[in-house]
Amino acid sequence: MKRILVTGARGQLGGRLLALQDLVDVPIVGVGSDELDITDRGAVDAWVEPGSVVVNCAAYTAVDAAESDEETAAAVNATGPRNLASACARAGSRLIHVSTDYVFAGDRAVPYETDDPTDPQTVYGRTKLAGELAIREVLPDAQIVRTAWVYTGVGNDFVATMLRLERDRDTVQVVTDQVGSPTYSADLAAGLLELARTGGGGATTLHATNSGTATWFDLARAVFEGVGADPARVRPCSSAEFVRPAPRPAYSALSPASWVAAGLTPLRPWQDALGDALARLE
Ligand SMILES: NC(=O)c1ccc[n+]([C@@H]2O[C@H](COP(=O)([O-])OP(=O)(O)OC[C@H]3O[C@@H](n4cnc5c(N)ncnc54)[C@H](OP(=O)(O)O)[C@@H]3O)[C@@H](O)[C@H]2O)c1
Repeated sequence: MKRILVTGARGQLGGRLLALQDLVDVPIVGVGSDELDITDRGAVDAWVEPGSVVVNCAAYTAVDAAESDEETAAAVNATGPRNLASACARAGSRLIHVSTDYVFAGDRAVPYETDDPTDPQTVYGRTKLAGELAIREVLPDAQIVRTAWVYTGVGNDFVATMLRLERDRDTVQVVTDQVGSPTYSADLAAGLLELARTGGGGATTLHATNSGTATWFDLARAVFEGVGADPARVRPCSSAEFVRPAPRPAYSALSPASWVAAGLTPLRPWQDALGDALARLE
């Protein structure tokens, strides 16, 4: 491996990968959408050099906006990954592509395994699944890593929003009927880097989230508690009270079995990761 090329490097996950340069002895080169638009096939070909590991963190992630902008979402989430896979195939480079729990229906009660049937319920989920399938067609040994509920605690992610609401409001209503695995972007980035370094035994589809499950309500209460605020200020509500353009999965925990079987270090429990994230924000 001569270098690691991170696309979407100004996003929350891409940014965390660049921050881990000290953990590897090859350069991590990050490109934002202004330097490399992954929908531009020629540009992608020019950036992917032989001997690279490409980690694709670029995506159209606006889940609600995607419902009325399928064309753009498909270009970024499906055509872009196809371009990257083609360029990697030509250059003999590896591709690690980040995907999502939204490829599943989200209607069951046990964690999803990598070979469970997909059935996306949103435009975002459908375009991300199309990206996975496009990659498989062009570069079968590419490594697709599905994750979920990613936060850093800055900008507009869920944890950052709860921190802001804790300061601005007496109480906040959060849904109790959606279950998932909150995942700290720094932990996921470290996991992706381990995969880039070790190859993960050649596993082609992997799930990576912090361990354990929570509802958004649980996560909100843990954020309040973590900053010394009264968690009772977080009040329960149901998804029916928060209708959004794209339906959210009721259950989208991802099983860590594939990650462990690939010899990769399991990501720690979400509560520990959140504690660390909040401490770092201070
Ligand atoms: N966040 C979550 O909860 C979550 C959950 C499951 C899976 N994921 C997956 O995790 C990955 C990383 O997500 P994230 O949370 O880091 O998202 P993010 O913060 O929205 O970052 C995505 C990045 O992609 C870039 N991008 C958009 N269009 C592009 C294009 N045509 N060419 C190149 N770059 C482009 C964006 O750059 P601009 O801002 O310049 O457009 C942005 O910096 C994605 O694959 C996402 O689907 C995220």
